[in-house]
Amino acid sequence: MTKYESEYPAKPVRDSVVEMTEVVLPNDTNNFGTLFGGKVMQLIDIAGTIAARRHTKRLVVTAAVDSLAFLSPIKMGDLVLLKASVNRAFKTSLEVGVKVFSENTQTGTRKHTASAYLSFVALDDEGKPTPIPSVIPETPDEKRRFEKAAIRRGSRLVSCSSELNR
Ligand SMILES: CC(C)(COP(=O)(O)OP(=O)(O)OC[C@H]1O[C@@H](n2cnc3c(N)ncnc32)[C@H](O)[C@@H]1OP(=O)(O)O)[C@@H](O)C(=O)NCCC(=O)NCCS
Repeated sequence: MTKYESEYPAKPVRDSVVEMTEVVLPNDTNNFGTLFGGKVMQLIDIAGTIAARRHTKRLVVTAAVDSLAFLSPIKMGDLVLLKASVNRAFKTSLEVGVKVFSENTQTGTRKHTASAYLSFVALDDEGKPTPIPSVIPETPDEKRRFEKAAIRRGSRLVSCSSELNR
């Protein structure tokens, strides 16, 4: 085992899993009586941050949010369920996947309403990026997300550097 591995032992995905439930209140709805997209984004960021903090045991900042599609609206009174977990950790950054579902409590119907991938960077006490543990994917889904996270990181960093070079 290297010094790095003993200092930052790898952790299974299950250690960072987050499940959040909220109810859609009138203040968070638009003119159509459905949840604001901005509120959904806030909830996604919060669920992702908690997963990243659980994995890293550090404070983290959101570095990037990949494209986010809203697949169906969430009505006032419905529940919003968020599931977040770390897909892969790199040196100081990590990718978290967040899935959002709506639930009608009268019918019990659940719908997948949004998904997002977020990148977080762990910071030390001086606010500098700091090394984090690797992720151990165990299930077939976790292994698939782990592999795809590396591909997404490649295209994310390419598009980020081409934005900066404009
Ligand atoms: C994110 C941030 C800390 C990166 O700082 P930096 O000086 O560019 O750091 P580095 O170049 O050393 O990169 C550190 C890590 O961030 C990753 N990173 C930087 N920009 C990124 C981006 N746009 N998307 C994904 N990862 C990114 C790097 O790939 C690197 O990861 P690695 O160590 O796992 O290889 C800095 O840009 C920042 O503070 N941004 C503002 C964050 C913020 O205010 N968020 C909203 C509120 S939480």
